[in-house]
Amino acid sequence: MKLLVCLCLTFLLQLGYADDEEVSNIAFPDGFLWGYASAAYQVEGGWDADGKSPSIWDNDAHNNPSWFPEGQNGDVACDAYHKTDEDVALLVYQGVKAYRFSISWPRVLPTGFTDNINEIGIAYYKDLITKLKANNIEPLVTMYHWDHPSSLEDQGGFLNESLIIPAFVDYATLLFERFGDDVKWWTTFNEPKQTCAGGYDWGGISPQKRLSGVGGYICAHNLLRAHAKAYRVYDEKFRATQNGKVSMVIDEPWHEPSSNSTQDQEAAERQNLFNYGWFADPIVFGDYPDVMKQRIAERSQLQNLSQSRLPSFTDEEKAELKGSYDFLTINMYTTDLVLWREDDPIGEPSIYDDVGVTTYQPDDWEKTVTIWFKVVPWGARSLVRWINNRYGDEKGIIVTENGYHDNGNNLTDLGTRGRYHKLYLSNLNDAIYKDGVNLIGYMAWSLMNDVEWYAGWLVNLGHYHVDFDSDERTRTPKESGVYYRKVVTTSCLVDNCTASPIKLNLN
Ligand code: BGC
Repeated sequence: MKLLVCLCLTFLLQLGYADDEEVSNIAFPDGFLWGYASAAYQVEGGWDADGKSPSIWDNDAHNNPSWFPEGQNGDVACDAYHKTDEDVALLVYQGVKAYRFSISWPRVLPTGFTDNINEIGIAYYKDLITKLKANNIEPLVTMYHWDHPSSLEDQGGFLNESLIIPAFVDYATLLFERFGDDVKWWTTFNEPKQTCAGGYDWGGISPQKRLSGVGGYICAHNLLRAHAKAYRVYDEKFRATQNGKVSMVIDEPWHEPSSNSTQDQEAAERQNLFNYGWFADPIVFGDYPDVMKQRIAERSQLQNLSQSRLPSFTDEEKAELKGSYDFLTINMYTTDLVLWREDDPIGEPSIYDDVGVTTYQPDDWEKTVTIWFKVVPWGARSLVRWINNRYGDEKGIIVTENGYHDNGNNLTDLGTRGRYHKLYLSNLNDAIYKDGVNLIGYMAWSLMNDVEWYAGWLVNLGHYHVDFDSDERTRTPKESGVYYRKVVTTSCLVDNCTASPIKLNLN
């Protein structure tokens, strides 16, 4: 008993934090949407259960065992497919108001098309949504988090406009029909830059197509058109009765100029526009950023191409895209510095050369286990301020992902992961109160360790550990989860906060 009291006291003292850094003590706005984020492939498992067909990630993992380390993959993952009650109970315990998860397209539409609806798959998500709602947790649903049915990829996937655009719009329409009475927060695509630049340009992620300097732009063009059409379907058929919001999840590391020189400033802005602006400019303003259009056209001309490698939107498409979002989003993890550089001669075209800048992270920045991922809390503030300034503050911004990479096994992660969330959140809090940024929500990635893309469970971000060696996939809380629970239940990063002057009305 004495030992227990002693252990508890130690834990509580630790949670009090000996602060060596300044952390904001103003509460986040009333009504702020605190949550967790996840994705189907990374947590569900049940890869072929009850009529689900393989996704591109299932196929790549099965056909090429080295795609993930040590034979790990998403076949069983956290077994969330069989643990809805347990996981909803954890979310309730954590006190969150929202849960962002994705629907697996091949689980509800095994052929990719609506002529073959898998009602068992629909029932799985219906059950999850119903249980979340019963506990006052808002579902924030991503329609596509990288795992389209493999059979669609056999027909060209996102490079085939006459396939992917109608197929996605029909899929989205089905989701609105079946779940829209309960789901008020929708996002069409997660991190389209990764899907397109990663999947179809440099080929480093599924479906591993390498069409450098070409495939990424075609994929993005089709994806943006599919997004806009799905958004307009919601406007025309569902908005009046369902009254929800639809957007797209965009990611970006913050890009900070490496000096005050005009050239470095211009280079950093260019990099931000080729990343976030590639997708946000079309859905907000109706077209790609000018700097993208100009540079890609010029570089295509230097290749003696008769037209730009960046496709252009018709007037009708621009009109459909413009304003096709009801809130802004950002998946944020780290920051890069940007140096201006001379353009490379045209060799093999690439998105990298089209942007034409050098990015780096100084050696003395705090490291994590992942090479590109250094801990840079101030970048969070700069990033949301930039988004707010460029795209306007009327609709609000949700941080749809933020989290810390380690090997996933450390339960005493208050000083690493806990501190990461605390410092990033403190900077976001400054963005709200010092810069006037209309930040309305924050989703930590992630409730529990999961299957990280290529890394399996060798790298992880969860607030709960998952025992991937046991059939039960036992979930065990980490200190970061204890801290995050305190934050979301008090809206305060430290022990005592002054009340927020802001009351959000997110309905
Ligand atoms: C992805 C997540 C992933 C996270 C952490 C994001 O880019 O959307 O699926 O788990 O990064 O690495």
